[in-house]
Amino acid sequence: MTAAPAVEAVELVKHFGDTRAVDDVSFVVPAGSVLGLLGPNGAGKTTLVRMLTTLSVPTSGTGRVAGFDIIEQPNEVRRSMGLTGQAATVDEILTGRENLKLIGALYGLPRKYVAEATERLFARFDLTHAADRMAKTYSGGMRRRLDLAVSLLAAPPILFLDEPTTGLDPMSRSGLWDVLRELVTEGTTLVLTTQYLEEADNLADEIVVVDKGKVIAAGTPTQLKDRAGKASVVVTLTNAADLDAAADLMRAHSPEVHVERGSRRVTAQAGGLGDMTRIAAVFETSGIELDDLGLARPSLDDVFLHLTGHRAETEPDAGASSSDATTEGVPS
Ligand SMILES: Nc1ncnc2c1ncn2[C@@H]1O[C@H](COP(=O)(O)OP(=O)(O)O)[C@@H](O)[C@H]1O
Ligand SMILES: [Mg+2]
Repeated sequence: MTAAPAVEAVELVKHFGDTRAVDDVSFVVPAGSVLGLLGPNGAGKTTLVRMLTTLSVPTSGTGRVAGFDIIEQPNEVRRSMGLTGQAATVDEILTGRENLKLIGALYGLPRKYVAEATERLFARFDLTHAADRMAKTYSGGMRRRLDLAVSLLAAPPILFLDEPTTGLDPMSRSGLWDVLRELVTEGTTLVLTTQYLEEADNLADEIVVVDKGKVIAAGTPTQLKDRAGKASVVVTLTNAADLDAAADLMRAHSPEVHVERGSRRVTAQAGGLGDMTRIAAVFETSGIELDDLGLARPSLDDVFLHLTGHRAETEPDAGASSSDATTEGVPS
């Protein structure tokens, strides 16, 4: 892409005592594109976002947002971007509408503009019906949408989203994806962090995979999934006695077939839905009884296993550390 970079990380490093939270990370995000920072809990995603949004000072290295240096020009950086975090910036005891009014006042935006933008944003995020209810009565999905509306009030050309859909049910998640896609259509540059390959796959033009503070892979969603291995067709047999016959049938349609006797499962590497349909058809006429047949796609776990040789460690507490609080994210 030839567009000027909207965001650049240049050899960013952040140490907390002995913890190398971010360990020499560089990437470039062209204007108008979506970068997905993908990694498990504790990978360093929030720390990266906090440095790029001027909330945390790098140990070394630097970055640029809209061409402004995050260390030399923090005020210009803040004026060019919005941030929405895992911990909502929303004030619970204010109504939705009052939350936007407050942020508008903090930004010094004209009242008339704030009133109009609030109506527009609430209509878009399906919050109009709840505009005059206290935010503490909102569901998780509604809070995220209000948080996003708050971040968009000043119409920033660059938006950072730290795990925007973590904790949301699948419906709210895909609703939020639609909203984010719309923003991109209008030219907004997005940098989003996520633990979900599916989310990065759905939204990102480029994915940077981070683990233990380091970039372990980068590429388009398709490139990454290809590196993690193809999808597989998994059949579960009714009778263990059919395992070998089933494996032989599947070998005719797949270069790699794996038998798990204990669970009566046969797994065949497959290119996609077409292979699943063909294998299903073979079993129709074979007389072999199946309990289940399905397509398993590479998960973030598989990507990690493939790239690092170890499973993504789950550190449930890492995400809840104080570094996730973004309440200080309001430019002052
Ligand atoms: N303020 C802090 N003080 C000490 N350690 C921190 C702080 N913030 C983050 N860390 C540590 O840095 C690492 C990366 O954390 P974080 O950036 O929150 O990861 P992620 O957002 O990917 O879950 C973790 O080991 C975390 O415990
Ligand atoms: Mg985080």
